[in-house]
Amino acid sequence: MSLGNWNSLAELDPLWTVLSEPDKKFGKWNPDEFFSTGDKEASRVLKMCESTGLPITFDKMLDFGCGVGRMTRGFSKAFRSCTGVDVSQNMVDLAQKYNADRPNCEFVTSSSPRLPFEDGTFDFVFTTLVLQHLPTQQLILNFISEFFRVAKVGGAVVFQVPIAVPLRLRLQLRRRLWAVLAAVGVSRTWLFQRAGLAPIQINGIARDKIERFIKAQAGDLRGVHRFDPAEGDFHSNYYLSLKSIAKS
Ligand SMILES: C[S@@+](CC[C@H](N)C(=O)[O-])C[C@H]1O[C@@H](n2cnc3c(N)ncnc32)[C@H](O)[C@@H]1O
Repeated sequence: MSLGNWNSLAELDPLWTVLSEPDKKFGKWNPDEFFSTGDKEASRVLKMCESTGLPITFDKMLDFGCGVGRMTRGFSKAFRSCTGVDVSQNMVDLAQKYNADRPNCEFVTSSSPRLPFEDGTFDFVFTTLVLQHLPTQQLILNFISEFFRVAKVGGAVVFQVPIAVPLRLRLQLRRRLWAVLAAVGVSRTWLFQRAGLAPIQINGIARDKIERFIKAQAGDLRGVHRFDPAEGDFHSNYYLSLKSIAKS
């Protein structure tokens, strides 16, 4: 599986790469403010689970595509042990640095489509702002299937993925231009800082396709929550499901 540009992005502007607010580009995120968004989102997600009737055991949680550990840290007050996994070694190094004060958080790198954990390891498997950056729908579904494999029976699987991507983002002109210019040797720093380009890809999957897929994974879909209605179908959904029986 390709690493994409995540290591370069983690060198250029890691916090903005994770939360791409226009006014925070070029290192303008204050780390405390940045990590407070993870605390808020983690409590919002746990409240969503509670209101949906999704039972949570606060023991072992997995944060897929953890980046610098924003959400891993956010969940670390609630869970006994939190594991973040990311394709980018640079992101994982930063996650370890930023969360050195959280001994119940660990971070690992994996570039495999198979997650580096045994079947039935986690009570709570979570991801946000990650599946939407995978290059194909097939890979998105591969990881959803992996979430159900590594979740315990009776464990919760909660993930965010857009149900639709606006045409402007689907065309991905800035990413394509970056790819062409980087391939002919233009420096990534110049592309990012001077040309205002960023190689971030956006993908999504229709809701009915995801819902069918969750059922096929021995997943009991407990609820679908909108991420931010103001954003329409983009960013859109968190799917909340329970692994009801062992996945064969
Ligand atoms: C936009 S950031 C989101 C980080 C984190 N989930 C958060 O919300 O703070 C996307 C992250 O996904 C990671 N990522 C992308 N593809 C991945 C893959 N195939 N496996 C694991 N991590 C991946 C990137 O390296 C990056 O750290």
